[in-house]
Amino acid sequence: MMIWLPLHFFTIAILTSGLKLTMADTLNYDKFVYSEFNDPERDQLLYGHFPDNFTWAVATASYQVEGAWNEDGKGLSIWDTFTHQPNHIYKNHNGDVACDSYHKIAEDIDILKDLGVTHYRFSLSWPRILPDGTVDNINNAGIDYYNRLIDALIAANIQPMVTLYHWDLPQSLQDIGGWSNDILAVYFNLYAELCFEKFGDRVKTWITLNEPYIAARMGHEMGVHAPGLRHQGTTIYRVGHTMLKAHAKAWHSYNTIYRPDQKGSIGITLVGFWGEPASDSDEDRAAADRYVQFMLGWFAHPIFIGDYPDVMKEQILKKSRAQGLTSSRLPSFTEEEINLIRGTSDFIGLNYYTTQLVRHAETETLPVGFLEDQDQVAWYNESWPKTGVPWLRPVPWGFRKIMNWIKMNYDNPPIIITENGVAEFSDGKEQLLNDTWRIQYITSHVNEMLKAHHKDGVDVRGYTAWSLTDSFEWTAGYAYRFGLYYMNADDPIRKRIPKASVDSFSEIIRNNGFLLPYEQEIKMGAMGTFGKWIQSFSQVFRKG
Ligand SMILES: *[C@@H]1O[C@H](CO)[C@@H](O)[C@H](O)[C@H]1NC(C)=O
Ligand SMILES: *[C@@H]1O[C@H](CO)[C@@H](O)[C@H](O)[C@H]1NC(C)=O
Ligand SMILES: *[C@@H]1O[C@H](CO)[C@@H](O)[C@H](O)[C@H]1NC(C)=O
Repeated sequence: MMIWLPLHFFTIAILTSGLKLTMADTLNYDKFVYSEFNDPERDQLLYGHFPDNFTWAVATASYQVEGAWNEDGKGLSIWDTFTHQPNHIYKNHNGDVACDSYHKIAEDIDILKDLGVTHYRFSLSWPRILPDGTVDNINNAGIDYYNRLIDALIAANIQPMVTLYHWDLPQSLQDIGGWSNDILAVYFNLYAELCFEKFGDRVKTWITLNEPYIAARMGHEMGVHAPGLRHQGTTIYRVGHTMLKAHAKAWHSYNTIYRPDQKGSIGITLVGFWGEPASDSDEDRAAADRYVQFMLGWFAHPIFIGDYPDVMKEQILKKSRAQGLTSSRLPSFTEEEINLIRGTSDFIGLNYYTTQLVRHAETETLPVGFLEDQDQVAWYNESWPKTGVPWLRPVPWGFRKIMNWIKMNYDNPPIIITENGVAEFSDGKEQLLNDTWRIQYITSHVNEMLKAHHKDGVDVRGYTAWSLTDSFEWTAGYAYRFGLYYMNADDPIRKRIPKASVDSFSEIIRNNGFLLPYEQEIKMGAMGTFGKWIQSFSQVFRKG
């Protein structure tokens, strides 16, 4: 409870006087999330259960699994265009067929049932529903496909958790400038309304956008994702700006038009890696905070507090001036837009994969870019284990810290973990089914989530593993294998084969967490009376 006072002081200060995020403010709350946060039991397993209504899910995204890229009236997406050009993707892989999920609803439902998830997070392909991106031209075959999928899920007692946009923008909308054109907010809202109308009777959890940070940065700054632009330090911010407005419009449409009847919830999914200060110095702590603000706060601050984080506005203005520009490369919101966006997420969908160490480093004026705007350098501690993905070092305690950071900065909003997972690197010919590293990753991260819930009072409501099957993993093609189920993209029937992690994840789901020692005894049936005695004794510590 001791963190409430500084938090409220901090929030109120920002709201009422537009005070800057000064070092003093940072130090008020970093006591808990930064280096003094040394829970002596940090790396120990906590036994216990989540609330009964906890959401257990697994996720995919349309372009990564569906295939059927040109079937039944689907329009082109920017990912079709991008992958069909040479040298963008590892070994020129593409999502033309992917896991063929468009034709394999029954197979996917079977493995979802085996896992025992309560929810399945998947995304709708905008150009499959609206081939030219606009509601002037609706593709009924696309609507039918999603109706069949949703009906089959509900028949299997699995609730759909639906992402409206997971990066596969209709190419025709890219042709008019894509997300750097403001009009996209209007088109997105019309598309969203159509989806609420067609599917909202059965879909009760909606996610507007998946990771706008990655779409903006990898697609428009680094050029490694579709549409492949490298406009450093400029387009990235315009894209983020439009995406925030698009999200807010769709939330309002749902809230005012559809929610009264459909009674669901709607939020946004943001990627948030943890930035751990490389030292205890004030400079490094402020740099670590900037790291999180530029990744997560960029989108979460406008939604949960209002407007961009002050530190982003200051940094980008400072850097823009140094280049000789008269105004900031970060667009600004009008007062009306700030109010339109504030308060537009029923929950925060959090995708967490890794943590980085961060230190303060002032950069030169040129080159201009998103990273350079931050005056920080981030890297990995070499002691953290390596995985099949260079940027993914498992750091479970960072997961707990980012959840606490969210709690403190945004007044403890409901959190749904919408992605968390790890990959092996392989061409897929070898079936790597004994994925002990994934078991370790999922178990430790779910356990950190339990600690965040039980020990820190974080309002976390659900956990989603990424991903159901090995699938088209963007720039890495089929080589980053995030699946709980193995799938070989060269296999004509694309059989889904369980890895060892399927059993361990479904056991966590069945137990709704981690069995307490006495429950394990009872389950083993070995200890009889002694187990029962432990049970009554342990009851006291249950909420521990
Ligand atoms: C879920 O359960 C908790 C207590 O276990 C309760 O406080 C909460 O309101 C429930 N949430 C929903 C959405 O039913
Ligand atoms: C890196 O990890 C090692 C081993 O856990 C630890 O001693 C060291 O302090 C870490 N370095 C930083 C900068 O956090
Ligand atoms: C899986 O890998 C672990 C650790 O490498 C090993 O101990 C275990 O025997 C393996 N299991 C199978 C079925 O190969």
